[in-house]
Amino acid sequence: MATSATSKLLLSDFASSVSHVPSNYVRPISDRPNLSEVETSGDSIPLIDLCDLDGSKRAEIVHQLAYACSTYGFFQIKNHGVPDTTIEKMLTVGREFFHQPESERIKHYSADPTKTTRVSTSFNVSADKILNWRDYLRLHCFPIEDFIGEWPSSPISFREVTAEYATNVRALVLRLLEALSESLGVERDHISNRLGQHAQHMAFNYYPPCPEPELTYGLPGHKDPTVITVLLQDQVSGLQVFKDDKWIAVNPIPNTFIVNIGDQMQVISNDLYKSVLHRAIVNTEKERLSIPTFYFPSTDAVIGPASELINEQDSLAVYKSFPFVEYWDKFWDRSLATASCLDAFKASTI
Ligand code: OGA
Ligand code: NI
Repeated sequence: MATSATSKLLLSDFASSVSHVPSNYVRPISDRPNLSEVETSGDSIPLIDLCDLDGSKRAEIVHQLAYACSTYGFFQIKNHGVPDTTIEKMLTVGREFFHQPESERIKHYSADPTKTTRVSTSFNVSADKILNWRDYLRLHCFPIEDFIGEWPSSPISFREVTAEYATNVRALVLRLLEALSESLGVERDHISNRLGQHAQHMAFNYYPPCPEPELTYGLPGHKDPTVITVLLQDQVSGLQVFKDDKWIAVNPIPNTFIVNIGDQMQVISNDLYKSVLHRAIVNTEKERLSIPTFYFPSTDAVIGPASELINEQDSLAVYKSFPFVEYWDKFWDRSLATASCLDAFKASTI
């Protein structure tokens, strides 16, 4: 019989006490992970070495980025400039946050997606019909001084470690946006200039061990609403990327980041670069922590295909231009779904 454990707000406060996945987490048979069909050892996403990005290898690296973004929508990076110690401290403090007593974590609980610092569970509890095997802390982190005062103050080093990490990752994102602009053949500052004041959010995704990983998801298949996402994951596998009709596991490599193209980059590149489906699965043995940095336009920025990529002969605009806030409102008005949010922003074909 399915267990029901609805008295707790957060999954991590009852996950270890159930021997079966509660019925409100169980996916219909047509929507299950089918883990035996996942590609775990063959094709994976490209690993790109950024070591000489600002030197003699720039053109070659830019070329590798273009290939990865158009073929996979995903790549991993090493020699990215974020110190190993900054990464290690971030993973440690993230774990410490979720290992705190319920009373400490619940202080930040909110189901309201407009709150700029909050703890929640699943994806969007007001809209999710089936829950996801995940708790999370989500916060805004650019400009840091606007938000740091509302971040958790426990663990004691949380704010300092998170600020250092967010600053480092933002610098990396800005370098990537320049390289990605070049890879599209537009001015180096093109993408950055399109994003208004810019916005940066982070999530700490905490996936407790799950008694029946075949029945549920940490996160179901979805595309990110971002320009790009820079994901830090611990040493536990769980991320899978959809390519050529199958799911590919992205196994962790220490001190690398996983970068993926989000919907806004797909629009700016006029579909040259793809925002692709990915998901997180859970396992019976180990908790898993992943820390995505979501890089966004500010809400007032107007997003549309780069004019340099559009011409009336063979490259019509696939999307119209829209204020980012219109997309953002649509994204949070629903549950996490495989259906793209971008359909509403397609250019008229008439
Ligand atoms: C996300 C996401 C993947 C992971 O948070 O948008 O895709 O491995 N996370 O946690
Ligand atoms: Ni995602």
